[in-house]
Parts: sequence; C-alpha cells; structure tokens
Amino acid sequence: MATPTLEKREAGFADSPYITATFRIRRFNPEVSEHAVWEDFQIEIDPKERVLDALHKIKWDVDGSLTFRRSCAHGICGSDAMRINGKNRLACKTLIKDINPEKPITVEAIKGLTVLKDLVVDMEPFFQAYRDVMPFLITKGNEPTRERLQSAEDRERFDDTTKCILCAACTSSCPVFWNDGQYFGPAAIVNAHRFIFDSRDEAGEQRLEILNDKDGVWRCRTTFNCTDACPRGIEVTKAIQEVKRALITRRF
Ligand code: SF4
Ligand code: FES
Repeated sequence: MATPTLEKREAGFADSPYITATFRIRRFNPEVSEHAVWEDFQIEIDPKERVLDALHKIKWDVDGSLTFRRSCAHGICGSDAMRINGKNRLACKTLIKDINPEKPITVEAIKGLTVLKDLVVDMEPFFQAYRDVMPFLITKGNEPTRERLQSAEDRERFDDTTKCILCAACTSSCPVFWNDGQYFGPAAIVNAHRFIFDSRDEAGEQRLEILNDKDGVWRCRTTFNCTDACPRGIEVTKAIQEVKRALITRRF
C-alpha cells in the first residue's frame, strides 16, 4: 500500500505518520572506484524524524556500508555536518519535514576537504588551522592565588564565539576555502576571536599576527555563507569583522 503524502499526513487525512522519502546520497569508496556516484534510497519514515535518523535507517536496514560520522545526535559534538539539499547543516538537527521530502533529498559530504568515504571527510586541515590560532588561555607571570575575575561586560564581548562546536559547517561553506585550502577559514577565526577578546588572555597580539598572514582574515570576502551555515547561530562574519578591526586599530 502506498504511504500517504506529507501534505495529506499534515492535513490529518492519513492514519500513518510515515511517508516514503527518497534520499539521494553521494557515495564514494576509494577501494571500489575513483569516482563518486549518487545513489537513491527509498525509505518509510516519519517526517518529524531527522536526517540522521534516516541515515541510520539506511545503514542499519538497507546498506551497512554507508559511511558517515555522528556521535551525540543532539547538536553538541559537531561531527555530522553535511550538505543536505545543497546547504551545510547538522544531520541531527535537520527535520525531514523541513526540507521538502516530496522531492529527493540530496545528502553529500561538506566541500573543500578531501572525501575519505561517502560522507566522511579528512578534518585534519580544519583542525590544524584551529590549532594554529592557539585556542587556549595564555597568561604571563605568576599563577594567581584565586580565580581570574572578569566583569559581565567583559565576558559578553566573546560570549557568541564560545558557542562553537567545531563542526566545520562555516569553513566548508566558504568559497575562499573551496578555492584553496590554505585560508584559515571562519571556524579558526571564530576560535581566535574567543580568546583575543577575553580580558583574561594575554596573547591577543600573537593571535592577531597569526591571522594577519596572507592566508588569514584578509582573505575573507564577507559572503556571509559562514553565518548562514552555522548551526549554533554564531554571527561568524561579525566575529571576523571584529578581528579585522582589531588588527587595524590594535584595540581589543
Ligand atoms: S562557527 Fe558555527 S559553523 Fe563554524 S565550526 Fe563553529 S559551530 Fe560550526
Ligand atoms: S551528532 Fe553530534 S552534532 Fe550531530
């Protein structure tokens, strides 16, 4: 028996919550072919479920070789960023009903990083850029005898950038990063921002010099792709602009 359409189900004309949805997944297995191919999977699924649930269903019930990363399944670990219907999203935060399941839903690996298998990319260049900006508190002098105090206003200056989960949705949506993987990318700048604007940190100048590099913040073309892609709602482009301004004024 055919499953009801999403329209009928939402209008309450259908008993079953399930619909038939087609997932068009870009598959790549270097042990089989040097070319990636699109493969369709039709599954019965409740559209209130998430794309990650659909991928699990395909992997567990249809094709165990489908390869993707995920861990927390709740938007915290940042491991399941992928391109869904052409847009970078977290599979665990994307409801099927919100991405038009009446049409095939495309799922592919994020761009700009080497695909290892199916939806899994090599994250090493991404994490190297993160490490390069020294994403940890740096202080000089003697250890304090009590905690380092900070006003609420000072904390507010970098509140937004503390929310990053290192999913790479921003960096892999950036056309500058696609064109040459040398650019530090938005995520590394966001994480530099988090410490540059922290009143307790004492290595802001060093981080700014690192980002003053030819592959640093000046490569940003302010396309806002990063801000649109961020599943945490971080104002990524604004953070990049603040780092650029700090480089010019040397005030932060
Ligand atoms: S800034 Fe947003 S999109 Fe970029 S890595 Fe962090 S959480 Fe992901
Ligand atoms: S699985 Fe952890 S963020 Fe999606």
